[in-house]
Amino acid sequence: TVDRVDVVAPPVLLAAAVRGDLLDAVPGYRSAFLRTFGGLTPENGQKMDVLQPTWGSYAWAASDRLVRFANEQRLPVRGHPLVYWDQLPRWITRPWVPWTRAELRAVLRGHAYATTRRYRGRIDRWDVVNEVLDWTGRRRPSVWQNVIGDGYVEDAFRAAHAGDPGARLVYNETGIEFPSPQQDAAVRLVADLRSRGVPIDGVGLQGHLDVDGPPSSEDLDAVISRFAALGVGVEFTEVDVSLPGRPTTDVLARQAAAYATVADACWRHVACDRMTVWGIGDDHGWRGRDARALVLDSGYRGKPALTAVREGLAGE
Ligand code: G3I
Repeated sequence: TVDRVDVVAPPVLLAAAVRGDLLDAVPGYRSAFLRTFGGLTPENGQKMDVLQPTWGSYAWAASDRLVRFANEQRLPVRGHPLVYWDQLPRWITRPWVPWTRAELRAVLRGHAYATTRRYRGRIDRWDVVNEVLDWTGRRRPSVWQNVIGDGYVEDAFRAAHAGDPGARLVYNETGIEFPSPQQDAAVRLVADLRSRGVPIDGVGLQGHLDVDGPPSSEDLDAVISRFAALGVGVEFTEVDVSLPGRPTTDVLARQAAAYATVADACWRHVACDRMTVWGIGDDHGWRGRDARALVLDSGYRGKPALTAVREGLAGE
């Protein structure tokens, strides 16, 4: 579906994952971010091990600093993530006495509520649940899934909505850019939540891609359309495109083409309003320096991928 050309829609925002610990520590990091991107997601700084290191006591300081920085720069923040299977504090994964379902539900709801409540009016969208399904489409095992069961997803959305009724609430998933049983299950999950009035506003497609097998335009059109038909927004939330080996001109051009496919798909659908890349420059990408997966190189110079993304998001 090509629908962006038919309406007056705001431009698509290009954002990036930011590590607060690098903002002041690494020369060039902050200025590269500010001159290239128009919004941010904390890469690790709002994960539960950071925010609630001991049961019931929150460590907001580092997260507050990053949010204050963004607010001062008038840049929107995607909060990330309220409920995730990874990066959990040890008191959750290794309790002295195993959790009862009621106890862990209270923990989950308390964390989602306290966090959205704290940043009410300062963070306007949240990854509420992150990576719910495995590649076969079944629920991914996690302490939340194992102890609470399927209902943990609904619990998280309802608690986040209670904490900030104005925030846009997103289900963020990995690997569903391509047609697959996992994508089908994600569509069924969103349809079910919507049909029962659970406050979900959007779906995040993470977009961790490889230069040798990126999704096609048709793949992306199809997945965006499936979710848009359910009445939710869609965004690309963690895009990177890793390289197999040396960054030859040819490989960098293919990386740029993969980025262009994502940017272009987002531009063409009114439902898609933001594209976030998962890091600033190749020196700090989570996939390792050699993967060179980002749009700026290790010296924070724009790669062909940056030009491609800018053109794609502008509909050029
Ligand atoms: O900061 C410490 C450092 O002090 C220590 O010396 C070092 C030793 O291992 O670890 C450093 O922490 C690492 C942290 O990244 C910061 O670099 C952690 O070990 C490492 O596990 C952590 O990885 C993060 C990963 O999530 C964990 O799941 C990545 O940075 C982060 O990019 C990645 O992001 C996730 C999204 O949240 C969800 N989707 C998938 C994506 C990629 O895995």
